[in-house]
Amino acid sequence: MNRAAAWGRPASEIHWLELRGWASMAAMPSVLEPFADGVWTVTRDLRFFGIETGSRMSIVRLPDERLFVHSPGPLDDELRSKVDAVGRVVAVVAPSKFHHLHVAQWQKAYPEAKLGCCPALVEKRADVRFDYVLGDAPAREWAGELDQVHFAARTMEDEVVFFHPRSRTLICCDAMFNLRHHRSPMTRLVALALWNRQPGATWLEHLMMRDRQSAREQLGRMLDWDIEGIILSHGPMVRSDGRNLLRRAYGWLL
Ligand SMILES: [Fe+2]
Repeated sequence: MNRAAAWGRPASEIHWLELRGWASMAAMPSVLEPFADGVWTVTRDLRFFGIETGSRMSIVRLPDERLFVHSPGPLDDELRSKVDAVGRVVAVVAPSKFHHLHVAQWQKAYPEAKLGCCPALVEKRADVRFDYVLGDAPAREWAGELDQVHFAARTMEDEVVFFHPRSRTLICCDAMFNLRHHRSPMTRLVALALWNRQPGATWLEHLMMRDRQSAREQLGRMLDWDIEGIILSHGPMVRSDGRNLLRRAYGWLL
């Protein structure tokens, strides 16, 4: 986003990364794409430090038509009407150190919703009032419907990863990059440089995950989940055999 695109939005909704042009989301039609029964995604074009990575948010319907929003993207009138048509937003989570740019916008739109963030965002987004600091225990709003693991061993993102047992869907942001088949040649080049030959596998993990014992323990709890599909934020999603893919991506830890 450039400065001109930011005009007209309250300062509290604009992050410095956007103003500096280091993170920008293109205006695209808001398409609520069904992934599984009661699970939708919204995918946007995103440039991060000039590289097209795309970004994806997820919405999970909880009982009583309550909605859990994961990694919220920009909220325009079109998207809001589509979200409101499938339920009532009761929870919005910023699950990674890099997935928080639009939480204030959602908080303003849905003041009754509870906001959660990964621990690293408490300080980074001190301007936002969060109701929950996410850990390994689901909050009251989504307990019994979603499970979660604080993948703290990935120190760069401090991500909290979710699992929706009803649809057997793993929901994550950065724990599973999948850029190998991106339409942008430059992004494919970056994927090649990162050795991102399959979802979730790059050499970055080997550098950032120094606490291998904690990493194994956190990964082990994720592998206890009966994962079929994987919603990830950057690149094509995984429709089947998700647990094996996760195991292969982090096999060097086991
Ligand atoms: Fe990300």
